[in-house]
Amino acid sequence: MLVTNKEIQVEAQKGKYAVGAFNTSNVEITQAIIEAHEELNAPVIIATSTSAIKYCGIDVLSSVVRTMAQKAKIPVSLHLDHGTDYDLIIGCIRNGWTSIMIDGSHAPLEENIALTKEIVKICHATGISVEAELGRLGGIEDNISVDERDARLTDPAEAVRFVNETQCDTLAIAIGTSHGAYKFKGEAKLAFDRLEEIRNRVDVPLVLHGASSVIPEIIEKANKYGADLGAAKGVPIEDIKKAISLGITKVNIDTDLRLAFTAGIREILSEKPELFDPRKIIGAGRALIKEVVKNKIEVLGSAGKA
Ligand code: 13P
Repeated sequence: MLVTNKEIQVEAQKGKYAVGAFNTSNVEITQAIIEAHEELNAPVIIATSTSAIKYCGIDVLSSVVRTMAQKAKIPVSLHLDHGTDYDLIIGCIRNGWTSIMIDGSHAPLEENIALTKEIVKICHATGISVEAELGRLGGIEDNISVDERDARLTDPAEAVRFVNETQCDTLAIAIGTSHGAYKFKGEAKLAFDRLEEIRNRVDVPLVLHGASSVIPEIIEKANKYGADLGAAKGVPIEDIKKAISLGITKVNIDTDLRLAFTAGIREILSEKPELFDPRKIIGAGRALIKEVVKNKIEVLGSAGKA
């Protein structure tokens, strides 16, 4: 069944667990995500980036996700990830998305507030929930100054004002994570103190972007079959669990699915060079994504919460 992010995250906040927001751009990735959640009876957020929508086509991606979501017994939200383009946001609303992220995080605070307010007004009039972002994603490197670090991370006092003025339903915060497979040069460092302070001062459910763990076994498998993924490094599972214990209710995962897809396909092509049936090749990527998603559901604590 199709629901909004707000509905899913308010339940997660009450139950002190998190729900995964997994990015998709095609049929097979969507199948893997939804099947894994159905098997473990977990709610799920299907996230679609601007580039994924362009790649697949807005109407096609909508049909794929909505058809599978409507057949599923679990709650599924269809979410626009990092919406920045007004026309695309309106396109998503018209094509049945149930949740929109407006990302004004790169604009100055006043501009971010004004932009978010406008999108909230439109979305709330149509029953769609809104995620907004405050602070800039990026790793906390050893060689940046304390001032620089503080400027990037979400400011708790600003978060209070931002949520009050914009009336956003959920808030993405910056505590030291970043998108992609190369998140940290040394040890992973997250600003848990910030998270705790924001949680204490803001009521809305909180979101962690850039939360892939860049699973070592998957990297090893991909590299074994010819990938060259260098010093890939993600957020340790223990840090994800700690962030959830401190109030994160939506954990965004894209990179780990891309890596699993790549590793699965590389393995089958290498092990069975006689194969040329796309279903068998892409199917191997889909199977490994499903396995990874099932592990994530256990880490996030969303199993059995549908
Ligand atoms: P990862 O790159 O860590 O998977 O993060 C994805 C994300 O935050 C999408 O918004």
